[in-house]
Amino acid sequence: MIFINITFNEKTRTFKLDAKDTTYMLMVADGEYLAHVYYGRKLPDDSLISVMRFDESPFTPATNNRDRASYLDTLPMEYPCFGIGDYREPVLRITAPDGTSTCDLRYKGYDITSGKPSLEGMPATFATDDSPCNTLEIILEDKPAGLEVSLFYTAFEKLDVITRSAVIRNVSNDKSVYLTRALSACVEFDTHEFDMITLNGSWARERAVERCRLHHAKQLVDSCKGESSHQNNPFVALCEHKADEDIGEVFGFNFVYSGNFMAQAEVTQHKKTRFVMGINSIDFSWKLDKGESFTAPEVVMVHSDSGIGKMSRTFHDLYRNNLIRGEYKDKRRPILINNWEATYFDFNTDKLIDIAREASKLGIEMLVMDDGWFGHRDSDNSSLGDWFVYEKKINGGLKHLVDEVNKLGLKFGIWFEPEMVSPDSELYKAHPDWAIQIGGRELTMSREQYVLDYSRKEVRDYVYGMMKNILDSANIEYIKWDMNRQHTEVGSNALPADRQKELWHRYVLGVYDLMDRLTTDYPHILLENCSGGGARFDPAMLYYSPQIWCSDDTDAIERLKIQHGTSVCYPCSAMGAHVSDCPNHTVGRNTPFETRGDVALVGTFGYELDVTRIPEEDRNAIPGQIEKFKKYNPLVRTGDHYRIGNVFEDNTWDAWMFVAKDKSEALFEFVQVLGRPNERSRNIKLKGLDPDAYYYEETKPDEKLSGAALMYVGINIAKMWNVDGLYGDFKSKTLHFVRA
Ligand code: GLA
Repeated sequence: MIFINITFNEKTRTFKLDAKDTTYMLMVADGEYLAHVYYGRKLPDDSLISVMRFDESPFTPATNNRDRASYLDTLPMEYPCFGIGDYREPVLRITAPDGTSTCDLRYKGYDITSGKPSLEGMPATFATDDSPCNTLEIILEDKPAGLEVSLFYTAFEKLDVITRSAVIRNVSNDKSVYLTRALSACVEFDTHEFDMITLNGSWARERAVERCRLHHAKQLVDSCKGESSHQNNPFVALCEHKADEDIGEVFGFNFVYSGNFMAQAEVTQHKKTRFVMGINSIDFSWKLDKGESFTAPEVVMVHSDSGIGKMSRTFHDLYRNNLIRGEYKDKRRPILINNWEATYFDFNTDKLIDIAREASKLGIEMLVMDDGWFGHRDSDNSSLGDWFVYEKKINGGLKHLVDEVNKLGLKFGIWFEPEMVSPDSELYKAHPDWAIQIGGRELTMSREQYVLDYSRKEVRDYVYGMMKNILDSANIEYIKWDMNRQHTEVGSNALPADRQKELWHRYVLGVYDLMDRLTTDYPHILLENCSGGGARFDPAMLYYSPQIWCSDDTDAIERLKIQHGTSVCYPCSAMGAHVSDCPNHTVGRNTPFETRGDVALVGTFGYELDVTRIPEEDRNAIPGQIEKFKKYNPLVRTGDHYRIGNVFEDNTWDAWMFVAKDKSEALFEFVQVLGRPNERSRNIKLKGLDPDAYYYEETKPDEKLSGAALMYVGINIAKMWNVDGLYGDFKSKTLHFVRA
């Protein structure tokens, strides 16, 4: 079989992987070490042996064995181990049967296959007919430790994407080995002239873009909270200093995982950069008995030769085509109304039906009943784990409520927080040992709840049984799966002492198992993930749910930053975004209803307010807003996204675009943020159009301009007090350009 994008040069022992416009090269170097050769723009060459100097160690040539340590401390390694003289960050560290930590992986062989193998029990990108890929497996071995490692590299033919993962096997005759670190990827760069871009934040302000220059030593982003976290997203980009949205070389890394992670760039003594990514090794240990294997989750690597914007669009295309699955993958999502900010815990059947009745008149398509419908839950201090209906509130039962809502022409959706248990619950009373805990230690409370031990199948089975009863009892067409606290006192009553540190990862595998069961058994249900807002906005969740609640902050102006940051590596089609009431419940800000709608239409779109109580003027605007969303949603879901403004740098305005793949139309959105006195009107340069085509703005068909003029001169956006429809702060404007 011929694989056009993966080759092996027998003479130089060089492997070459070509993605669309990207080349990744590695080779078997002296001593049978797997060394990195090149990652960047596409090259025609299948070997770079004449320009590489792998034998140039600092003190002595390393082709002999006299100074192997300095050789190994400078050799660009593909999967570096701890203990053999490479003092940079390792990706693999073990505790051997004799208690020592050293391992030493040498090349054993390779295999090239078409397509992409799946990762056992874990989400990962996959090949599709219109977006194919091929996979290189390189096998390394450490004979004294009895370990074998398979490194998997998949190159996508039509995207600038290469993915990495690793499987570590105990092939010894009898001994157990402990992995104390098992990261997924290491990439070595021949320079330190990089900026590092990360997505940081907190509750209600997730994924703020931060950029800093790399310096000597280690720069780390991580999570040790048991989820990917509000604070640090499992994403890092390294880019040239000059790189911006449109120019410069950028390398993006995103971890397909929902638990503890680490991503670190290290500038070494010789001004090179080693980047590593994988499961956080804090409190990590994994016992590998004879014959067992451990799979390190997938890292997605995207290369862009034209700025951060192109990197983002590649991530978007990959995730929309090669990661998100299910019935809603390519479909517009129903326009929902969620009762959380409308009622919080204070609702009953009649209240929900009132909301549904009003919503149905306005064109809303689904009612989502949020937290508070189960057990005896009247506030956040009870009943998690008791997934049966709270009859006092849902008087008449769930089926009655759902039927009534369906009769009004609306679908029905429901909220669960399946991984949690309240101390005040029947579940906890019956099974206190099912909470994650360490015997003899007080359990830390957070939001008055504990985390269930999802490493245990019987726990998952029990929770799933309760969920199934609910799902089978009525016509439920959507689930919001929430997760509202981080882990503490991490211990399991079901694991032996030498496997306790496996719990963090076993927990995540348990979550995947249940999500897999749910989406397999209920393929028609639309699943939306959520974690105290956007603490689990990661690619792994996109494998199960085509959308994720972006943030509990629904203020349109705060959302500019949150959605901008999220779009750095996640598609807008996956961003849960709602129009909510004013003053905003998180920041107390008042913004125009129109702006709230324009900002929400960047994502999945919906409402999060009491539609029976909002001002009539706002209510009357809803049908028009919905019409606008329906018109532009195909562009948002399938088009190319271009960021134009940057509210992290200039808090006076923001703008962005969605351009059809065939460049036949484009949606431009502008938001006036904070006005400045004596500001002039501004020309904003559009992006992504065909320079040779002519376009008109939909409402002015006679005024045609070339794509070149629109992109290189720009369109004029009036100053804030101008009569052009923008009267002051927080106003928005959308313009639809159509090819003439
Ligand atoms: C989390 C979610 C909210 C809401 C509440 C309910 O905070 O992010 O949208 O569902 O839980 O308790």
